[in-house]
Amino acid sequence: MGRRLRGFAGYASFDASEAEKGAEHLLKPSNRTEANLLEQLDMNRLPRHVAIIMDGNGRWAERRHLPRIAGHRAGVKTAREVIESSARLGIEALTLYAFSMENWRRPHTEVDFLMRLLREYLRKELPVIHKNNIRLIVIGRGGQLPPTVRRDLDEAMKLTSGNTGMKLVVALNYGGRAEIVDAVNAILEERRKAAEPEGPIAEQEISDHLHTAGLPDPDLLVRTSGELRVSNFLLWQIAYAEIYVTETLWPDFHRASLLEALIEYQRRERRYGGLSPGRKTSKSHSQAVS
Ligand code: FPP
Repeated sequence: MGRRLRGFAGYASFDASEAEKGAEHLLKPSNRTEANLLEQLDMNRLPRHVAIIMDGNGRWAERRHLPRIAGHRAGVKTAREVIESSARLGIEALTLYAFSMENWRRPHTEVDFLMRLLREYLRKELPVIHKNNIRLIVIGRGGQLPPTVRRDLDEAMKLTSGNTGMKLVVALNYGGRAEIVDAVNAILEERRKAAEPEGPIAEQEISDHLHTAGLPDPDLLVRTSGELRVSNFLLWQIAYAEIYVTETLWPDFHRASLLEALIEYQRRERRYGGLSPGRKTSKSHSQAVS
């Protein structure tokens, strides 16, 4: 029988001292829908690592006849809710795709706004993140970010580096292909310096040189707003991830949406290219490939 959350009433603020009592005490539903969804969730089979492509801020704003930046502001609120809910559930790592290498192609004013929003988010939320034992990790080519943003991020990572709770990974100026290229170049450089004999590069060696080294690969990749693309996100790491796409636009992806994604993940059968237990005698290749 799986561990399930039960018997909650009301919504309590996130308090680090609660964390020590165990996850059962942490996530309190704020309405009946959330309570019903929590009942369905098996706390023993949560994904270790959830990665999210937060998409649809612009469309959310357009539908309300608001400027795109209003969508990004609403997106930050959702990010806060999803971060808090994931930490309360006891998820080990949450990766959010906040700014891709391709996002520089957006109008200068929008890029500027996103960078300011990120700094504002850090200024407001870092104390809460730190208090709740969350460790902030930033992945991507940080060298190309504005110096003020880099400085704030470096300080935030340093402050939270000893935290042992959820790892909050924020992908900024991130591109999956660039990350793999950087990893391979780093391996070649290390070998050159060590004057090591040439040899084939192993998969583990590449994993160990990615920005996500040390993190489990994502078990679940969520994409909001309905696009069926991975958009150069964690290309190496999502090799076996379950992909969950929802039509919900990111600002509307509230806690219930996260719980729905987790429940759907638990319905899936992960085979990693093998056979399901009931089909172990099958010889069919097509059945064996996930
Ligand atoms: C996609 O919407 C979202 C982004 C470009 C990333 C910005 C994300 C946030 C502001 C959330 C905050 C995150 C953190 C970690 C504080 P879009 O503009 O691509 O939407 P569209 O496809 O509808 O135009």
